[in-house]
Amino acid sequence: MSKSIEAIDLDVYYGSFLAVEGVNVRIEPRTVTAFIGPSGCGKTTFLRTMNRMHEVLPNATVKGQLLLDAEDIYASGVDPVRVRSKVGMVFQRPNPFPTMSIRDNVLAGFKLNGIRMGRAQAEEITERSLKGANLWNEVKDRLDKPGSGLSGGQQQRLCIARTIAVQPEVILMDEPCSALDPISTLAVEDLIGDLKEHFTIVIVTHNMQQASRVSDKTAFFNIAGTGKPGKLIEFDYTDKIFSNPNEQSTEDYITGRFG
Ligand SMILES: Nc1ncnc2c1ncn2[C@@H]1O[C@H](COP(=O)(O)OP(=O)(O)OP(=O)(O)O)[C@@H](O)[C@H]1O
Ligand SMILES: [Mg+2]
Repeated sequence: MSKSIEAIDLDVYYGSFLAVEGVNVRIEPRTVTAFIGPSGCGKTTFLRTMNRMHEVLPNATVKGQLLLDAEDIYASGVDPVRVRSKVGMVFQRPNPFPTMSIRDNVLAGFKLNGIRMGRAQAEEITERSLKGANLWNEVKDRLDKPGSGLSGGQQQRLCIARTIAVQPEVILMDEPCSALDPISTLAVEDLIGDLKEHFTIVIVTHNMQQASRVSDKTAFFNIAGTGKPGKLIEFDYTDKIFSNPNEQSTEDYITGRFG
């Protein structure tokens, strides 16, 4: 189920603006990879190319290849909707559908894809996904209540349940804890540790402690200046990046000298 993801000479544009240039990276299945780097260096932009979300913006384009196992998700004829069902995404702000029940939020991915199922199967998927997101015990008695009635941390775990319900191969998370309190943050971090048994996970974070707690590998992105493209500067084992990076700019960033 879990797949590798590999970028080859990937350039990402907004119109004529080259936002991210020349990314080459290979992310192994069943690992957690952290993307770090100063604001504006292209972490979100690159992340959104990994499930073809980038191109939903007008004039947003991509050059190069992005392989999910061996398949180039940008090859002609590939259906972006199918890519997004294999490469799920969790956003910075929890975004459950507010008027939908907790149960319907978990099952939303199936409904959006026009997949119908019987009651027993729906119950089974709801329970499995909420257990997987470490939320089941908190909500099992109120599955028919609206998703908006949960705390922020619970809403974020509900969004994770919604993402894992459709059994993706890769999960992308863009600063998933930035709106959460420390306890909910730790709950989500624990969950990431569990999820990597089944999924390939990429997480953008500004929190260096979080990167070192949750990730196996870390990718440091940087920009040379305003208007310049973001680049992947260094990609290595997280221990190495945080103890003895190869690049001076990585060292400067992780020690808080800039960004
Ligand atoms: N929709 C857009 N249209 C045009 N340019 C954009 C758009 N979104 C982002 N950019 C530009 O692309 C560059 C990279 O932005 P991006 O959001 O990927 O950075 P980031 O590393 O995620 O930053 P942060 O840490 O603040 O979230 C920036 O120069 C940004 O202004
Ligand atoms: Mg961002």
